[in-house]
Amino acid sequence: MNYRSARLSTAFLIAAAATSILRGQAPAALAVDLNRPKAPVSPTLYGLMTEEINYSYDGGLYAELIRNRTFRSDWTGLLNWFLIEKGTASAKVAVSNDGPSKALPNSAKLEVAKADASSPAGLLNEGYWGIAVRPNTRYTGSLFAKSGGEDSLPLKIALVANQSGQVLASTSVSIAGTAWKEYKFAMQSGDATASAENHLELTIDKPATLWLQLVSLFPPTYHDRVNGNRIDIMEKLAAMHPTFLRFPGGNYLEGDRIDNRFDWRKTVGPLVDRPTHPSPWSYHSTDGMGLLEFLEWCEDLHMEPVLAVFAGYSLGGQVAKPGADLEPYVQEVLDEIEYVIGGPGTKGGTLRASHGHPAPFPLRYVEVGNEDSFDRSRSYDERYAQFYKAIKAKYPDLQIIATTPVKSLRPDVLDDHYYKRRQEMFAMANHYDQADRKGPKIFVGEWATREGDPTPNLGAALGDSAFLTGLERNSDLIVMAAYAPLFVNVNPGGMQWSTDLIGYNALSSYASPAYYAQVMFGSCLGDHIVSADLSGAGDKFFYSVTASAKSKVCVKLVNGSSTAQPVAMTLNGLGSGPHTARLQTLKAETTWATNTIENPERVVPVRSQLSLKGERLEQVVPGYAIQVLEIDLK
Ligand code: AHR
Repeated sequence: MNYRSARLSTAFLIAAAATSILRGQAPAALAVDLNRPKAPVSPTLYGLMTEEINYSYDGGLYAELIRNRTFRSDWTGLLNWFLIEKGTASAKVAVSNDGPSKALPNSAKLEVAKADASSPAGLLNEGYWGIAVRPNTRYTGSLFAKSGGEDSLPLKIALVANQSGQVLASTSVSIAGTAWKEYKFAMQSGDATASAENHLELTIDKPATLWLQLVSLFPPTYHDRVNGNRIDIMEKLAAMHPTFLRFPGGNYLEGDRIDNRFDWRKTVGPLVDRPTHPSPWSYHSTDGMGLLEFLEWCEDLHMEPVLAVFAGYSLGGQVAKPGADLEPYVQEVLDEIEYVIGGPGTKGGTLRASHGHPAPFPLRYVEVGNEDSFDRSRSYDERYAQFYKAIKAKYPDLQIIATTPVKSLRPDVLDDHYYKRRQEMFAMANHYDQADRKGPKIFVGEWATREGDPTPNLGAALGDSAFLTGLERNSDLIVMAAYAPLFVNVNPGGMQWSTDLIGYNALSSYASPAYYAQVMFGSCLGDHIVSADLSGAGDKFFYSVTASAKSKVCVKLVNGSSTAQPVAMTLNGLGSGPHTARLQTLKAETTWATNTIENPERVVPVRSQLSLKGERLEQVVPGYAIQVLEIDLK
């Protein structure tokens, strides 16, 4: 986490407030009564939503370095792969309908007519906008191959700098025989300067024919997971202390057509048995991030899974009719749930164990579909009911989330989505204040203030924070909330949806002001909502107060106006003190101030310590500022 720090005292705050008051600004009054708890705060309020969009996994979180490792092609030829013919070498490459598995029935056939040690031939992979190579780092890989003859054929594997041609790491494997076989390898970089301007070369130095498939290469991953995730991005997520992960979508769950849905069965097991599939966000998914990898991601960050399941509707309008037509999809979901939580005696649990994870995962929430209000056939009510009954019959404790209101039965939880501009999010701060407490609980499964491209700016963070104060004040009703989209690859062509929380390229990642606002909000969340009243502030000022009995009070203040706002706080029940407190402030001079991949720390929180005496505190909240004040009760 990137924080700046400053040391303040109440005297400073009071003096600052007094200066503003002298300038004629009357302070707003925030009256907090710590002796009047209003309702419990949901312990799972803050979590994450994710899907394959903006190169979120491939070219993003999923640490695979090779782009198009399964040799897909179009009329231009193999995608992301290029022929190498050095010196006098001569070779050609084509797609062959011969592959190592049913799921991957094709391969790249490399025919080298002429090559020697000084004139090798082979294939080059460009990576996801380059391949990041860091100094003294171990890269582990694998590939499937077979050759045209029985003689052993040495295949050289190298990471090469684009500009200088310098070999940064290399190794070789000996391809033996005419049958498909998997080869594993590792290579180590030396004192290279960290850069993403590199590519992979696979070369041979004699005439031969070679078939290749599933060429994969990984850097070190978070928690050293095989087939794992990028460390820098996982660390940013960990700093948010998320309590749940909603996956795998979003539109990505639904697919453009039913055939292109997230079919969990095709995303588990060895990579060679995963056929890959087109995603609705205009690029192809490797499915390296499959059902088990999502669950292990949850495990790594101590998040509970919120499992979104395909519910018979795809984005292009294809619908499996409720009744017999829908039944296979219901069974698919029952099998999926069993894969997640089934014990050793179950088919699903046994399958999961065979994939390396014998222990069942925890599961409380299953979400049926995504944004089914778009279904023009209006079949969701019946589809939801069919899934609900089948799931509850087998797993009565599971909570079933609906994506739009239904009438035939009462959903356990309803998923609301909001994508809005800042002023609209300000208006949303009171949206749930009067909401029906007798209806379903609410999951705000996707929300974002959409200002800033590719990542949100400070103005968006203000809209987000105003909205979050409303969720906190109503967190007896709002059980969970998650921003979306979470990720964007900032390279040209990487983004399909603007305003995404965390940006990256192949080498590094950065956090937006909106990300920092969420880290601040998540860093102090009490277990109950405290009775609090604000008067005398303008309509662009927002607050929430929560507390944990005997440990801390959390005050969130959001000033969406450009003018500083003095606030006179009374904390009835705090006692005479002294109490230590920590203040975090995120602010900027304009709403358009932001962070970028080149300037990742322009808008970051500033932390200060203070000591409180008595139950009154006067404070100036700067213009365009978000503040989180954590007061120790002990
Ligand atoms: O977050 C981007 C998209 O917005 C999601 O895929 C979809 O659920 C929503 O419409």
